[in-house]
Amino acid sequence: MINGETKIVGLFGHPIEHTISPNMHNIAFKHLNLNYIYVPFNVKPQYLKSAIIGAKNMKIVGLNVTIPHKVNILNYLDYIEDSAKLIGAVNTIYFEDNLIKGYNTDGKGALRALKNVTLVKNKKISILGAGGAARAIAYELILDGVESINIINRDFNKAEKLKNNILSNIDCNIYVNNYDNLNNIIPETDILIDSTPVGMYPDVNAEPLVKSYMMHENLIVNHLVYNPIETSILKEAKKANATTISGLDMLIYQGIESLKIWTKKEAPYKLLKERLIKIL
Ligand SMILES: NC(=O)c1ccc[n+]([C@@H]2O[C@H](COP(=O)([O-])OP(=O)(O)OC[C@H]3O[C@@H](n4cnc5c(N)ncnc54)[C@H](OP(=O)(O)O)[C@@H]3O)[C@@H](O)[C@H]2O)c1
Repeated sequence: MINGETKIVGLFGHPIEHTISPNMHNIAFKHLNLNYIYVPFNVKPQYLKSAIIGAKNMKIVGLNVTIPHKVNILNYLDYIEDSAKLIGAVNTIYFEDNLIKGYNTDGKGALRALKNVTLVKNKKISILGAGGAARAIAYELILDGVESINIINRDFNKAEKLKNNILSNIDCNIYVNNYDNLNNIIPETDILIDSTPVGMYPDVNAEPLVKSYMMHENLIVNHLVYNPIETSILKEAKKANATTISGLDMLIYQGIESLKIWTKKEAPYKLLKERLIKIL
């Protein structure tokens, strides 16, 4: 029940209609018995500055920021946490001590989703795609001590740029490859992360980028797409008896990490997963 003491958090994005973050956070607040509400705000790019200042002045507690604001928001922050600085993007804002503080929980969420099923330290990782999500995850995996990362992308130059950016900040084993080379890379891979939208609703029958015959049963396959929960590449992974992780786990854990920044409480992963599967 909303009353005079209800604290507000929310999401800045544009468009925003598809989001299930309000469902997730409001379920968590109810379960944790916290007098908070999570509200979606449709903020056009040209209004980001006025909206963030307005949110601070209205004593909103915190925000998630999503497409198209994750990079531009950096211009309006008083403090940026180290890993968000490396990633170059922020998805969580916390208004604290009259400051606008920025964090990135995307990569941390992905890492927690992986750690639910395996250790990542010393593992060989292959990432399909070289966009914002790939960048966030690559940095978190490297900071967590993976053995190596192979980035495979259609646009080779974009993958090279990501590799060079990471190497300019951290000494690590990072390589770039073409899809033509997948046959050689996958047998050597422990964890395959598909960070492309291939197979995302409504294009659910799109040809997966890796087929089952290339996979092996010790492989862990994580697609970041969560709608559908089981995408075409995860179906291929099941055929190969590989372990699968849906993008829903990353979504839930990045939300859990944001909620923790705002409230210092840990939201219940299992309950959120059960409820979000029903909603999706
Ligand atoms: N579960 C979660 O919480 C979560 C969080 C963030 C993102 N995501 C999902 O992750 C995906 C990527 O997000 P993003 O922010 O990284 O997007 P992005 O910055 O636009 O990057 C997308 C990447 O996918 C590649 N790609 C797109 N279509 C492709 C195709 N048909 N074949 C091969 N590669 C293709 C692009 O390759 P090129 O560079 O060659 O164009 C690019 O490298 C999205 O589907 C998003 O919904 C999920």
